[in-house]
Amino acid sequence: MAIRYIEQDRTFWLDTEHTSYLLAIVDQENFVGHVYYGQKLQYTENTPAPVYLLRTGEAPFVPSQNNRERVSFLDSFPMEYPGNGLGDYRESAISVRTAQGHVGVQLQYVSHEIVKEKPALPGLPSTFPGDEDCDTLILHLADPVIGLAADLIYTTFEEEDVITRSVILKNTAGQPIYVTKVMSACLDLDGTDEKYDILTLHGSWGRERQMERRSLMHGKQSVGSVRGESSHQEHPFIALLSADATQDAGEVYGMHFVYSGNFLAQAELSQFDSIRMTMGIHPENFVWKLEQGESFAAPEVVMTYSSEGLSGMTHHYHDMYRGHLIRGEYRDKKRPILINNWEATYFDFNTEKLLKIAEQASKLGIEMLVMDDGWFGKRDDDNSSLGDWFVNEKKLGGTLSELIDRVHAQGVKFGIWIEPEMVNEDSNLYREHPDWAIQIPGKLPVRSRNQLILDFSRKEVRDNIFDQICAVFDQGKIDYVKWDMNRSMADVYAGNLAYDYVLGVYDFMERLVTRYPDILLEGCSGGGGRFDAGMLYYSPQIWCSDNTDAINRTRIQYGTSFFYPVSSMGAHVSAVPNHQTGRVTSLKTRGITAMAGTFGYELNPALLSDEEKEEIREQIKTFKKYEMLIN
Ligand code: GLA
Repeated sequence: MAIRYIEQDRTFWLDTEHTSYLLAIVDQENFVGHVYYGQKLQYTENTPAPVYLLRTGEAPFVPSQNNRERVSFLDSFPMEYPGNGLGDYRESAISVRTAQGHVGVQLQYVSHEIVKEKPALPGLPSTFPGDEDCDTLILHLADPVIGLAADLIYTTFEEEDVITRSVILKNTAGQPIYVTKVMSACLDLDGTDEKYDILTLHGSWGRERQMERRSLMHGKQSVGSVRGESSHQEHPFIALLSADATQDAGEVYGMHFVYSGNFLAQAELSQFDSIRMTMGIHPENFVWKLEQGESFAAPEVVMTYSSEGLSGMTHHYHDMYRGHLIRGEYRDKKRPILINNWEATYFDFNTEKLLKIAEQASKLGIEMLVMDDGWFGKRDDDNSSLGDWFVNEKKLGGTLSELIDRVHAQGVKFGIWIEPEMVNEDSNLYREHPDWAIQIPGKLPVRSRNQLILDFSRKEVRDNIFDQICAVFDQGKIDYVKWDMNRSMADVYAGNLAYDYVLGVYDFMERLVTRYPDILLEGCSGGGGRFDAGMLYYSPQIWCSDNTDAINRTRIQYGTSFFYPVSSMGAHVSAVPNHQTGRVTSLKTRGITAMAGTFGYELNPALLSDEEKEEIREQIKTFKKYEMLIN
């Protein structure tokens, strides 16, 4: 049994193989307190749960014993899901505004359920039990004054030493409630003499997920994204490390978000040296109107504790994502070694050029050709045609099905690039439906790469693009799709847009993988701008970065490898001098670096010398030999 309720102590005791997580209900008002998270505690029937860790027998005591000093309790007690505006001055997990304009919310325990399953989160990607048995604790909390109910959901993955968390809010009032903040998880750790560091992953375009470690100081330290995607700049992750933690030893508490949009990940060191870690949707510009009877699901946080340093944490995440997040037939299958024409031709290609690449590539042992950006509408540069998903047969010099057949005839699989969420103003789609692009009425829409974002929160918009894309995919046997997304969101016209947009993208992706279960989907966002656990649920591999320089890649892939298995990290050997950095590295260095990922090529084989061709043949043989071991 991984989850117990110990009635006499009013304590919930969650166990995984090596960790325990305890919370308890205290006082007549039913506050939910966080008791313990860390190395496994031995449960025995006759020993009381260690609720003394909450120190409610010491000043300031609980409100029923010392209500004249209620604030001291509220502002120091380790809250499992802290409210807002009522005396806890640390970071809140939730904030709301009532129809009358009042703020202030505090959620108290009402009842609970312990079930032997993991409920899915409506519309959101989430981890699933697979062959494992999972126990779930659902804590029903409420603020009866406002009429807001909240379910805190905890599922234990015992073998992986992971506890997943999420929150579902429900409006039980007779009128709308405006939710202005809802974190998915909060972890209040007791103050100790220990010093802690925090670890985050910072970046930019072409420099994603660089490890940054710093001492946790008093106050709040956070990373986040308000870009509508998880972002190049910060990763939806935060870890708290004992200051002595290394790769293999020391304590690590990790939180990772299964979500592809705005996020906030934060650690706060309070006046009493207690630590509050929170993770959830970024509250900036977030306002969710929750109507009477409606629910809102906050995305999942995958939380883990390791007493074996960063390696322990990484193993937990890899096991978790390989077994309980990545789906589809390619999850455990060898991935074809691909060649992508982007850096070989950019927009300047036709059927003959592509066939030449495929022909030469197949002689080297490469197994798939991917036709990148530029095959649709009238797109010869990045200024037009996004939204017009019909094949540019004039440019290709033939039909798509002819191209696919001729590629297949060489024994090479065929992949294609799409960017379904975007629109250029120079497109038939925009001319017909200018209101489908996200914009704030009266304001000049913010272009990026000369493109606007389609409003994927609207079903009719998704349906139109889905039908267009299916009409292309049905022209031949497509083996692989690279789903790109090349700009961040601006012009956020409403408080629900950023969330509804991400759910719209998920809805589209779910429809796509359901209709084409054999297609290998690779995510991409200007390189690695949306490399996150939410995307991994739909696409078993994601392009790590537009920077293919082998030296820069070692850092990018190292940071990415904290959570993501090697089999998910898109990595290619490209030409030198490298197109992003101008650096020249040996083919050997480039090969080894790409092998620590999905492995493929992104160059023009016609420009290779005979020695280089021979070296590539050898690289491919080596990779084939070790592929399953590496993965
Ligand atoms: C993004 C991708 C690249 C390539 C281009 C095409 O930058 O990350 O790999 O597909 O778009 O426009």
